[in-house]
Amino acid sequence: MNEACALRDDLSPEADASAAHLSLTGLRKTFDGKTFAIDAVSLDIREGEFVTFLGPSGSGKTTTLSIVAGFTTPTEGDVRLRGASVVDMPPHRRNMGMVFQNYALFPHMSALENVAFPLRMRRVSSHECITRARRILDVVGLADHVDRLPKQLSGGQQQRVALARALVFEPDVLLLDEPLSALDKNLREQMQLEIKRLHKTFGMTTIFVTHDQSEAMTMSDRIAVFNAGRVEQFAPALDVYAAPATHFVGTFVGESNFFDVTANDPAAGRYDASALHRTLAALPTAHPRGSMLSLMVRPESLRIAETADAEDPNLLDFELAGIVDYGSSLLLDGRCSGQRVRMRVPRGGRTAYREGARYRITWHPEDAHIVPRP
Ligand SMILES: Nc1ncnc2c1ncn2[C@@H]1O[C@H](COP(=O)(O)OP(=O)(O)OP(=O)(O)O)[C@@H](O)[C@H]1O
Ligand SMILES: [Mg+2]
Repeated sequence: MNEACALRDDLSPEADASAAHLSLTGLRKTFDGKTFAIDAVSLDIREGEFVTFLGPSGSGKTTTLSIVAGFTTPTEGDVRLRGASVVDMPPHRRNMGMVFQNYALFPHMSALENVAFPLRMRRVSSHECITRARRILDVVGLADHVDRLPKQLSGGQQQRVALARALVFEPDVLLLDEPLSALDKNLREQMQLEIKRLHKTFGMTTIFVTHDQSEAMTMSDRIAVFNAGRVEQFAPALDVYAAPATHFVGTFVGESNFFDVTANDPAAGRYDASALHRTLAALPTAHPRGSMLSLMVRPESLRIAETADAEDPNLLDFELAGIVDYGSSLLLDGRCSGQRVRMRVPRGGRTAYREGARYRITWHPEDAHIVPRP
């Protein structure tokens, strides 16, 4: 499959490549000349869009962001801003604000001086530097803290200073590399809202990096899911959950059960699961007959079959091994023909659950996705 084409297909028809504000094309980077930290990363990001890079540690998120910002030179590929290549342009000429993971404030400068710094670098007059720095510190709620040094500020306040410093010169693009990972849960949620508010106020194209899937889901217009230096899916946040493009996306975003299947009549949504001795029903696909695939079904899409319908192709025997009580729901951990299966059911339903007991389970074919086998 041509990955670049597949990713571009995810864009809606009205947003073709020419409408992209920021285009990453075929980006590759090797640090050691042998392995690629990122490989064939191509994304078109629209003006004003909030895009999140989501992926595990070492998957290439920072490397990609750093190439966009101009701190890292790609081995191959291009970065275009409104159609013009910026790949040879130094970072300060790209008009992109960046917040680093450790927010890197100057320790000997006050909040005001930190925020004014990018303006001084751009030779803005001293008076205007101060006026604009004060104004943006006010926007992030730090009007009363302008004279404090970073060490006299809390983690969340330092984070706001870093945000203000990235916003003060009115960047075209805002790049945020895991800006909230050092904060505790409450502050983190507060700052998520803050960042969304700033994005709404200023409307700048934003790339936000995180390895927290729930943060990605709540913040983003679209999510680019990174794995081992590649983007496996670039799609609206809900689609990444509801229609994962790959096995990895299915495991990294939410929980999933996978069954090894072979395409029997894929256009009719029929797939053979030899380990289960049945032909299962899932969403139709265009894979050739005989393709080796994975059928993916979420724990919350599985349900107990109250009446055994002999016509139901997805009716499986489930042996319950363990129950985890989440208060509002139960996670049932068990096996179908020796394969581990997890299902999430509402609490207080009609069925009584007992470890060691057997149940008949099923799912609606439309809730089962087919992805290539890894
Ligand atoms: N300056 C460097 N020199 C050599 N290798 C590097 C360098 N920077 C990154 N790498 C390697 O490139 C790969 C991608 O790293 P990157 O920092 O982009 O990952 P990440 O997705 O941001 O991870 P994390 O979530 O841990 O921040 C890793 O294997 C990393 O070791
Ligand atoms: Mg990183």
